[in-house]
Parts: sequence; C-alpha cells; structure tokens
Amino acid sequence: PKIKYITHDGKEYDVDAHEGASVMEAATSSNVPGIDGDCGGALACGTCHIYVDPAWFAKAGTPAQDAEQEMLSLLDNRQDNSRLSCQISMSAELDGLVVRLPRGQH
Ligand code: FES
Repeated sequence: PKIKYITHDGKEYDVDAHEGASVMEAATSSNVPGIDGDCGGALACGTCHIYVDPAWFAKAGTPAQDAEQEMLSLLDNRQDNSRLSCQISMSAELDGLVVRLPRGQH
C-alpha cells in the first residue's frame, strides 16, 4: 500500500509500504526525513509523530490507545489529527494514505 509523506516545507515522499508494516517503519526503511522512530515503535519516544490527512483520519484506524495518547500529550505541537506513526499498521485499505510531518521534524 502506498503512503505519501509531506514534510512541513512541502516536500513529498511516496513510499510503497509492505502490508503490516507501520507508517513509521515504512518511512525509516525508505529514508523519509523527519520520522526517526528512535524507540522502535514502543510508544516511548514521540519521534514518529505525524498528522494524518483529515480525509484519512477515521480510516487510519484504531483510535489512539491510552499509551499513545499519553505520549502525544507530551508533544507541544500536537493537533487533533496527531498520531504516532509506529501505531498505524498498513493494509490495503490504507492504500494512498497521506500524512504530514510536524515542523521541527526533519
Ligand atoms: Fe517511538 Fe513511535 S517510534 S513512539
């Protein structure tokens, strides 16, 4: 499934993710700048913060769990459509997903 990452200054990166890979893993394995995934998806770093395009937010699935909410609440650039990209698993349903990177992550 395809993912489009858009940096805060408008650069676009298109990645064809493996099914089951997280949006964080797809970015780090394709060297998309701005998503570091320092903790490897353990909800402990917040370096995988993204904004999900509003058109995709409901589909991007499972509402953030408590642990994800807690980590997001520590980020000062949090928005209503914030997610941690390590918690979004790619599936055919999400083909074409669009996410944006917060300013300050590059
Ligand atoms: Fe660390 Fe997502 S990779 S919170």
